[in-house]
Amino acid sequence: MPIGHPHRRPRRLRLKEGVRALVEECTLRREDLLAPVFVSENGTSRYPIPSLPGVERVPLPELASEALRLQRLGLRGVVLFPVNDPEVKTADGREAYNREGLVQRAIAEVKRACPGLIVFADVALDPFTTHGHDGIVDETDGEVLNDETVEALCRMSLTLADAGVDFVAPSDMMDGRIGAIRNALDEAGHWRVGILAYSAKFASAFYGPFREAVASGARGLDKKGYQLTTGNLRQARLEVELDEAEGADMVMVKPALPYLDVVRQTRETTHLPVVAYHVSGEYAMLKAAVEKGWLDEAPCVRETLVSLKRAGADLIVTYYAAWACENIL
Ligand code: PBG
Repeated sequence: MPIGHPHRRPRRLRLKEGVRALVEECTLRREDLLAPVFVSENGTSRYPIPSLPGVERVPLPELASEALRLQRLGLRGVVLFPVNDPEVKTADGREAYNREGLVQRAIAEVKRACPGLIVFADVALDPFTTHGHDGIVDETDGEVLNDETVEALCRMSLTLADAGVDFVAPSDMMDGRIGAIRNALDEAGHWRVGILAYSAKFASAFYGPFREAVASGARGLDKKGYQLTTGNLRQARLEVELDEAEGADMVMVKPALPYLDVVRQTRETTHLPVVAYHVSGEYAMLKAAVEKGWLDEAPCVRETLVSLKRAGADLIVTYYAAWACENIL
């Protein structure tokens, strides 16, 4: 390197705000964000979730106005999660495919109020089971049965499709469920309904606040028999490849920040849109630090969401979706 004046000065592209804006490689749009919505059955007023400050369970009668609010903010999609009353939960989670179930009615309600808003619905049994597992449990050893669960997920997907969902989003991590659901949908004439596969979903401790929100089992509930092991990058690639081969339209990596390398790898593995799920625990820890006055919310949220785009995510599911539209976009 010559001593004296540097010949290359990358800082020229950083000195002025206008130039920085011109050369920004990765930006955040409202269209990049999907908002999770927790819908509940009873009551007429919204009620908060302690470990997810700023996120509320929305009673079904208020869902239409919440959907309109999100649409007016510029969001294009919502992901629905039912908060079921304990009375409807069973060991086999059969409420999941009740045509008159809460999530089925919620889908119809959102599509009625906002036909253009794209509705994703989670497919897994945990909001419907007494034990909180994502599938049907083998009573002899406590492990989640694969093929029996896939059958239930197919039945569930058909009721969601009949209710008008745009994308079913299997989050259960059973083997072969994407192909089975695709077949079931096609055979019923639902070829327009897409599948967002939670492909690289890790057994994470960051789902705690979500489980509190939908009251689906204890924080420490062990899902390692089906969700991915934290250190396993090659298995994440395999899951993405299988889900794509089985007919997924989009693939998901979850959680987001602790798995940015998986987001990047997935971007390089598939031509499908990649979705990153900034999960409840990631949201909660940022909120907690903000509430303590230790972090500034707007720049931290922006940095977090842009880092996911930079890693290769096309879409981000985040509890900050509406907040981001109101405050940083
Ligand atoms: C359930 C499901 C979970 C989340 C989304 N779908 C929890 C789990 O697997 O235990 C977590 C989302 C979050 O933490 O924000 N299949």
